[in-house]
Amino acid sequence: MRRPLVAGNWKMHGTRASVAELINGLRKQVLPVSVEIAVFPTCLHVAQVLDGLQGVHVEVGAQDCAVDPVQGALTGEIAASQLQDAGCAMVLVGHSERRLLLGETDADVVRKFAAVQSCGLIPLLCVGETLEQREAGKTLAVVGAQLASVIDVLGVDVFARAVIAYEPVWAIGSGLTASPEQAQQVHAAIRAQLAVQSVEVACAVRVLYGGSVKAANAAELFGMPDIDGGLVGGASLNADEFGAICRAAGS
Ligand code: 13P
Repeated sequence: MRRPLVAGNWKMHGTRASVAELINGLRKQVLPVSVEIAVFPTCLHVAQVLDGLQGVHVEVGAQDCAVDPVQGALTGEIAASQLQDAGCAMVLVGHSERRLLLGETDADVVRKFAAVQSCGLIPLLCVGETLEQREAGKTLAVVGAQLASVIDVLGVDVFARAVIAYEPVWAIGSGLTASPEQAQQVHAAIRAQLAVQSVEVACAVRVLYGGSVKAANAAELFGMPDIDGGLVGGASLNADEFGAICRAAGS
């Protein structure tokens, strides 16, 4: 059985005051122990969140890292080794906002994925198609190519220590959610692609869905056989809503 994971991507949100409020709200939630839970604040707030959530079973991750795992002369970047030192457990890699708005390439994503693992942290690889690609019938090809770029360079076994998140770009922050059936189709294809090389890895890896996940649609999405939890953006900034999504993953 795969343990569900609910991850909250706080993106470029938060001040010290609003983060303190969110921490307080999270501390009041009843969080199911059967579900692994993680939040991804900005790097500025990682220490505050780790401190504030001590004793709560919520892990803390980072939203990105440098392609090189070792610290050095690279102004503005943060190395995976520094994230490990700061107490992060996971790192998002290849979020569509970074791929599309900041020009991150598949090659960058592969290097970041490897950097994260080389520091003993878990990469959470984000994949997903744009609306244009979906309408052109290219969803499985696009997602398949994003996944293949990692498998081809690093091998399938790296997914024994990683998580995948399918996030259709058109569903992110738009209020539009992929239907459970639409998401399940892509999740099953991701697992089938891994299974070509390792059935064991394919069966064990967790594939999360992301894109306008809310308390109201979470249970239906998480009820699909190949959806193992969610990567939640906007709704993760509301502790009650995020708590409810975590509970939906545990039921
Ligand atoms: P929303 O939940 O706000 O649509 O964001 C999804 C996302 O991009 C999480 O990484």
